[in-house]
Amino acid sequence: MSSSTITFSRVGLVGTGAMGRGIAQIAAQAGSKVCLFDTLPEAAVSAKRQIEQQWQKLSEKGKVAPADVERWSALLTPIASLNELSDCDLVVEAIVERLDVKRELFAQLENIVASTAVLATNTSSLSVTAIGAGLKSAHRLAGYHFFNPVPLMKVVEVIAGLKTDAATCERLTAYSREMGHTPVSAKDTPGFIVNHAGRGYGTEALRILSEGVADIATIDRILRDQVGFKLGPFELMDLTGLDVSQPVMESIYHQYYEEPRFRPNVIAAQRLAGGVLGRKTGEGFYRYDNGVQQVAG
Ligand code: NAI
Repeated sequence: MSSSTITFSRVGLVGTGAMGRGIAQIAAQAGSKVCLFDTLPEAAVSAKRQIEQQWQKLSEKGKVAPADVERWSALLTPIASLNELSDCDLVVEAIVERLDVKRELFAQLENIVASTAVLATNTSSLSVTAIGAGLKSAHRLAGYHFFNPVPLMKVVEVIAGLKTDAATCERLTAYSREMGHTPVSAKDTPGFIVNHAGRGYGTEALRILSEGVADIATIDRILRDQVGFKLGPFELMDLTGLDVSQPVMESIYHQYYEEPRFRPNVIAAQRLAGGVLGRKTGEGFYRYDNGVQQVAG
């Protein structure tokens, strides 16, 4: 797709962790220029390098042309200041899952980008309406909720907050298709569709474990190999990282006024407190020696 026909030709990504990198990757593949910003020094530069490594691997397997890798790489620019996002027509936020930090970021962004630019949050569990509260232009803020790993998980939830206008969601919906993703519109409710339905997958698995019904590897094996989920619940929590998934579980539980079926589990809380987060720390419910999943001893 040429950048002149695409809905957003200049996209900013704020937060270049797992999600920011994935969104940047598919945005560049669609032909958008993408600016990468992160508060962690060097994170944006390293994100560009990691995305290029992904493309390189695909090119070695013959799945993408070397010329595409070169073209897409040229579209990625790490930047050192939020002000450099001023000419973006879309800014997607994929930073830490904290309401105060996200609010502060959008308050800054709405004064940096043009009044026609769209602002989007990749929040998993926070209210889009609450993130937009206090903004002068909440009509152009929407939820844009991707899944990990973004290039493979081809669905994205588009969420209107109470003040979001229809045009904002329509543009995000069109852009999702241009990136090869399937958009689904969801109401601004705790967890939207997927994380609302998906809560049970993690919380019930933790309950089965804490009640001693079966061990981690057995629960995963049955749900993956016999029931047909792509990953077992513990493999999924290890992929996401407890630093990301536990706050989501807690947030949804509290937003539904301590609804018992959403209650988070002490096993996950204790592991989070101990820094045993999952793949990103080399140990979670499994050990990852050289990236290979092993049953933890
Ligand atoms: P991550 O921890 O891998 O990356 C977050 C990045 O944001 C880090 O590089 C951090 O330095 C940066 N950051 C933090 N505060 C910042 C700020 N104020 N300004 C700029 N950069 C900042 O986290 P991940 O997994 O990429 O998640 C990011 C967001 O996406 C969270 O809101 C999360 O709930 C949401 N999300 C996560 C999913 C997942 O499975 N990991 C799935 C869907 C949404």
